[in-house]
Amino acid sequence: MKAKEIRQKYLDFFKSKGHTIIPSESLIPENDPTVLFTTAGMHPLVPYLMGEEHPGGNRVTNAQKCIRTSDIDEVGDTTHHTFFEMLGNWSFGDYFKKEAIEWSWEFLTSSEWLGLDKNRLACSVFEGDDNAPFDSEAFEIWKNLGMPEKRIARLGKKENWWGPAGETGPCGPDTEMFYWVGDPNKVPDSFNDDHDSWVEIWNDVFMQYNKTKDGNFEPLAQQNVDTGMGLERILAVINGVDDNYKTELFANIIKKIEELSNLKYGDDADDEYIKNGKRCWVNTRKQFRIIADHIKAAAFIMGDNKGVAPSNTDQGYIVRRLIRRAIRYGKQLGITKELWTKEIAQIVISDYKEAYPELEQNYVFILNEINKEEKKFSKTLEKGLKEFEKKGNINGKEAFDLYQTYGFPIEMTKELAEEKGIEIDEKEFKKELKKHQELSRTASAGKFKGGLADSGEETAKLHTATHLLNAALRKILGNHVYQKGSNITAKRLRFDFTHNEKLTVEEKQKVEELVNEVIQKDLPINFEEVTVDEAKEKGAIGVFDAKYGDKVKVYKIGSDKNLFSMEICGGPHVNSTGELGEFKIKKEQSSSAGVRRIKAVLK
Ligand code: SER
Repeated sequence: MKAKEIRQKYLDFFKSKGHTIIPSESLIPENDPTVLFTTAGMHPLVPYLMGEEHPGGNRVTNAQKCIRTSDIDEVGDTTHHTFFEMLGNWSFGDYFKKEAIEWSWEFLTSSEWLGLDKNRLACSVFEGDDNAPFDSEAFEIWKNLGMPEKRIARLGKKENWWGPAGETGPCGPDTEMFYWVGDPNKVPDSFNDDHDSWVEIWNDVFMQYNKTKDGNFEPLAQQNVDTGMGLERILAVINGVDDNYKTELFANIIKKIEELSNLKYGDDADDEYIKNGKRCWVNTRKQFRIIADHIKAAAFIMGDNKGVAPSNTDQGYIVRRLIRRAIRYGKQLGITKELWTKEIAQIVISDYKEAYPELEQNYVFILNEINKEEKKFSKTLEKGLKEFEKKGNINGKEAFDLYQTYGFPIEMTKELAEEKGIEIDEKEFKKELKKHQELSRTASAGKFKGGLADSGEETAKLHTATHLLNAALRKILGNHVYQKGSNITAKRLRFDFTHNEKLTVEEKQKVEELVNEVIQKDLPINFEEVTVDEAKEKGAIGVFDAKYGDKVKVYKIGSDKNLFSMEICGGPHVNSTGELGEFKIKKEQSSSAGVRRIKAVLK
């Protein structure tokens, strides 16, 4: 079965169960300052899990592109990836455990759908702890479906609890499904999640709680379902291969790496090489997988509609880290060709462009950026490695110098140090980093883990302020003003818009005054759900490529008599402008040709 077919079957199945099919969201989260990437299908849906109405109704399904940087170190085995696709279905306060589990079972085992052997399936449920009880409901549902009790493991929070993605937010017990990828004639009677041959394929999360700042678990007003199935894994399982990298989703990429390195992937015997006159063995499968995974992930991040180029900060730093790590492993495989990473990126684009057309639209950008990055790094890699080899240990300053002079991401230096068995003083390195402010906030702030806004309220306020600012700019500067970008942290908003000149002192003042006037009027904020065409007709501004099928949300600030702003937007927003406090522009500067940037705060 092909990946395309599985994607389609999944969506068709859940459509037949009353779900609206929604497109994949961007890999770069909107209005969420606490994470760098979309890490799961549920991520862009958090407002709806918290009670906002979704234009697609209370049952939705999709295939979502995801990046999990927390799994970077696991990449190299048969099942982990930085980039993966997640098939998911959600209930926003609609169906709950019974339907979710029964549908998962039906989809996996019915001959009409995936037709997996029931005898090779097992599952786990939450065993209970101080915060929440044993999930006996899920347990009973599985039993009634015919799952033998010995195949239903009861596990703790580490395994059977999902979320919140950050410090706070929706979360709950989950039930995971596993498939036996070992010898079909030797499926054990009981399930043991430590055994490598039991591969997790699907996770049904029952989001009944909201974790609060003080660490309590409050029942959520609505009970939700959030499920996620990794496409790469299910593809491998269905086709009976024991390695995701041997599936169609990697085949062409791996073939290219074979061609470039003159090695063969997946030979059982480890490959031998000579280093410093000594015979060494390297399991080249790991290198192959890391290169394939990292370049794919980098291509997807650069090729996103909010695409990011390699840089020293935030998402850009991750792209840099992925490409540079791939280059280093390429060197280990003996790839000598110059500018080879783009050849792999090209394959990623052509393999995925049908499912994700943005890759083709951003083709030139992806190839240019990866080329530039490789050029930059391959010049210094060799010298940096030589420098590194001389060292008996690495202190923070030296690790920092390797970064500064040779462009070695800290994580790469750490990896090199581990391979050599020497320690690295990260604390000291971080101190050095702080001194050099332009460097990655990402690396220093440990932002990789991801997390949803634990500052939800502040974010919503700044988000509403962004709409006010957008409308005020149009009223004061003219209707040529269009939003070019928006980024919100817990502390400030940043807004990019089309305008050719620097704002005068008066203009800035007028904009500020107008926004504050609207705040003082305490105008209500409401939304309605309409089709894209209706939204256009009404004169709503915003991005018109329909996000959720046909219907979109239009947020209005003010009632019809004193309407101040009308924008297509997913939310969330505060209920009325009076909640915002005082609006203050902190900075106005150029962002790029014809685009200005404003940073503003609420006091
Ligand atoms: N959020 C859950 C996961 O990522 C299910 O989608 O596993």
